[in-house]
Amino acid sequence: MTKRNESFDFPSTFRWGTATSAHQVEGQQTNNDWWATEQVGGYIYKDQRAGDACDWWRHAESDFERMAAMHLNTHRLSIEWSRIQPQPDKWSEEALLRYREMLEMLHDRGIEPMVTLHHFTNPLWMAVLGGWENENSPKWFETYVRKVVSTLGDLVNLWCTINEPMVLLVRGYLLGNWPPHQRSILSLYQAGLNMAQAHVAAYHAIHEINPGAQVGLAKHMDVWSPHRDWIPTDHLVARLVNRITNHVILDALTKGEVRLLGRRFIQLENAVDTLDWLGINYYQRYRVGMKIRNILRTIFPKLPADIFYHGTKPGYQKGPGTWGEIHAEGLFDTLRSVTRYNLPIYITENGIPDKDDVHRPRFILTHLHQLWKAIQQGIPVRGYYHWSLVDNFEWGEGYNPEFRFGLFGVDFETQERIPRTSGELYAQICKYNSISQELITEYDPELLPQLFPQQSTA
Ligand code: FCB
Repeated sequence: MTKRNESFDFPSTFRWGTATSAHQVEGQQTNNDWWATEQVGGYIYKDQRAGDACDWWRHAESDFERMAAMHLNTHRLSIEWSRIQPQPDKWSEEALLRYREMLEMLHDRGIEPMVTLHHFTNPLWMAVLGGWENENSPKWFETYVRKVVSTLGDLVNLWCTINEPMVLLVRGYLLGNWPPHQRSILSLYQAGLNMAQAHVAAYHAIHEINPGAQVGLAKHMDVWSPHRDWIPTDHLVARLVNRITNHVILDALTKGEVRLLGRRFIQLENAVDTLDWLGINYYQRYRVGMKIRNILRTIFPKLPADIFYHGTKPGYQKGPGTWGEIHAEGLFDTLRSVTRYNLPIYITENGIPDKDDVHRPRFILTHLHQLWKAIQQGIPVRGYYHWSLVDNFEWGEGYNPEFRFGLFGVDFETQERIPRTSGELYAQICKYNSISQELITEYDPELLPQLFPQQSTA
């Protein structure tokens, strides 16, 4: 054996946190489009409703205590638009006060908040007026953002305008399993343009109110690999899907335009450089390809599902249901792929559905190791937010036990928190700002040869 006691140290200014969203943890949300979907059968696992969720609207403090005990110095939470603006012409001072209280509680514990302004849910009044398809939606969003930032801006420096716009667009406007349950490319395009414009309007509004604020957006990035290495069309599909789902929005908000096949496809006004930082939500890898035989069989292709393959590869670790492959190196590759935007980066979400906490400790260690590698290579990652602190309402999966993401488990009957080993491990990493060899030995000794290969061969 050569040198022992090596560790992967993070920069002294690195931020360690967890991420949550309002509808998933607060409870008693009855004025947004997700609430409306929960009243209709057929869209959510066992037709479940968010209900009290993790009860944060009444009692967030004990979970904030948990964060402090874990040595977190930041937390990403979202503000619920429908609480702040229950009607187009009505503001709720009470809701603003409650958020002030929550933000102060975080500050009191040395936890800097990152605040997301839109995390999938829309006020019912907005949904009724056509939601993001309505040409006024960017203006509506800007008005709401101005109210929030002028009221709470003294407590927040890190603003995240919109969470995962592309995920919302695909699920809400193409697959139709999320509100507004549409299946139309045209609607998707319109809603997408409006969301991008809403970000741009919010970006400028926040800076006008608080010039020193740092404004970004959380972009969901999957790794797309060809289903079969030897089939050129699979490579083509992977590249195309990567370009469209991972980069189109980021191009629009950095260059002010989107180019496809060398031609300008979309131009957005005032959108150049409207990101001060880039948030990456990284979870998984998918394999994609083309079902060539199906194309040959029919001159008029039927559904995209008949033509495109989308899934995982046997022999690779994957999540439950349609969750993709768990692929730590993908985090490194993703980070490398966004260096082209030349922006400071936060990992705004990263986590694994794992109710028994069997895989989460390794998931954390391997992903943070990739993150550390990226930082070593000069990629400016400023912080990491694990999804999530506590189990919560997982959208279409509801409270499906297969989709538990918490560093703490939650008994939703009693609101009891159940500590998990991964939470302990994460707390150690945050405390020491480092992953030491001792820590790996303690939590996952089988990983040692992978993370310290030179020592195992010495
Ligand atoms: C992300 C969402 C977040 C949560 C995790 C598991 O795509 O932003 O709300 O559902 O997935």
